[in-house]
Amino acid sequence: MTTRDDLLAFLTETLGTSGVLSQPADTARYRVDWAGAQGGIPLAVARPSSPEQVAEVLGYCHRHDIPVVPQGGGSGLVEGALPDTTTPELVVSLERLNRIRAIDPLNFSMSVDAGCVLQTIKDAADAEDCFFPLALGAQGSCQIGGNIATNAGGLNVLRYGMMRQLVLGVEVALPDGRLLHDMKALHKNNTGYDLKQLFIGAEGTLGIVTGAVLKLFPRPQVTRTALIGCPDVDAALALYAQARRSCCDLLSAFELIPRACLTLAMEAAPDLPDPLDTPHPVYVLMEVAASGPVDLDAMIETLFERGLDQGLLGDGVLATSDAQASQLWRIREAMLEGQQRRGEHLRTDISLPISALTAFHRQAEAAIHRASPESMVIAYGHIGDGNLHFNILPPATLADDAKRALLHELEVQLFELVAEFEGSISAEHGIGRVKQGPFLETLSAPEHAIMRGVKRLLDPRGMMSPGRILPSPCD
Ligand code: FAD
Ligand code: LAC
Ligand code: ZN
Repeated sequence: MTTRDDLLAFLTETLGTSGVLSQPADTARYRVDWAGAQGGIPLAVARPSSPEQVAEVLGYCHRHDIPVVPQGGGSGLVEGALPDTTTPELVVSLERLNRIRAIDPLNFSMSVDAGCVLQTIKDAADAEDCFFPLALGAQGSCQIGGNIATNAGGLNVLRYGMMRQLVLGVEVALPDGRLLHDMKALHKNNTGYDLKQLFIGAEGTLGIVTGAVLKLFPRPQVTRTALIGCPDVDAALALYAQARRSCCDLLSAFELIPRACLTLAMEAAPDLPDPLDTPHPVYVLMEVAASGPVDLDAMIETLFERGLDQGLLGDGVLATSDAQASQLWRIREAMLEGQQRRGEHLRTDISLPISALTAFHRQAEAAIHRASPESMVIAYGHIGDGNLHFNILPPATLADDAKRALLHELEVQLFELVAEFEGSISAEHGIGRVKQGPFLETLSAPEHAIMRGVKRLLDPRGMMSPGRILPSPCD
């Protein structure tokens, strides 16, 4: 029988004293995530500094039936990285595994440790006149291993794809302690099953990603950002269809921002000005970028003119400097802070066929309004990917328990509608613990059997992130 002392002794011997944290004061910061959710007290926090060390730690835990949860930057939004509150787990933090291993500008690829912060990766690519396109509000803190584990999306998916499309190779410490090294920097490789894809989006349930080969692109030389006021979501989508066609495939972001979100952003950042002279029901924040000499201003102006003629937009502003563009993007960041300030709310990341978004939006908003007239719907996000953050702020006056019950009821209604429209209950953030109930309900019998089979094959003792995605024990 292995005790916690045995585990600590093993970790200290394998990782050195700086590689292990065991005191509650030192482990406290690994128990809370960006959204303020609180996890349990972990057995300890292991901080390996090489892939081999990660594998050794997993091998030990496998032999001694110790549950493990990997942790990156703690910006995940479904509580997958937080240590369990009932069964103590070992947190494996990747924060010391943070080297850029190599950049190959000719091959447009980059090999990195999993603990590299996304912003560091983007900066390193930039320094080689390359571009790593994954972009999201948490990029200053999230790690590439966490991005891979959650198959992160973000702002530039419509042009460059999700994380899944940006990974050429992975290195993974398997739950039994073996190291899978699939780090070939190949843009094409059809030799058998594409195993790396199993680990992308697995939220740490099949092993710990220790390294990756990422796909790079030419660095954009010119970028234009515009904020456009539209009469409604239908018009914003019609404008999207035009922008996608008329911007010569150079459209790199197209975000929907309802007026309520702009108000939340200005509440959180009072120095942010109302960007247009008059308020509009919804706004579109769009970006166009090119790696060569293209007249992007002319392109956007034509889009503006046509949009005005067709009544798709009322007004708009085209940023004329980097500072002005950053100011527009700050609206997108500050509105998340504004939501956080309003306290507990329903956060979702649903997706639908783009062509179904308008009807879905109308019906969902009406349904929520009928069920709870005092709740506030704020549906924003990556409409160019059919991905809406259809969030709901409950009335502030409700007591905590009543708030929770109401949000649960509204989530059930919303997800029923998502199912009717053949959408997905998670396009970005994953399942973790928070979305497990509705996820299991949507699984068909064959899907469930295959997922259980994969989990059992790779993690027969069920020690890797137990209870995330699938229930534990996995039956
Ligand atoms: P963590 O939160 O530490 O972990 C997330 C999950 O991955 C957990 O299950 C954890 O166990 C697992 N994990 C972490 N590292 C590893 C590893 N090396 N190997 C195996 N498993 C691992 N997401 C989007 O998709 N699009 C967005 O636009 C977006 N915007 C965001 C904006 C803000 C302000 C915030 C706070 C979050 C946002 N997110 C978004 C969610 C979040 O940033 C992403 O899910 C991110 O990919 C998580 O990375 P992380 O390093 O913080 O992971
Ligand atoms: C966003 C995150 C929450 O797009 O996914 O704001
Ligand atoms: Zn998002």
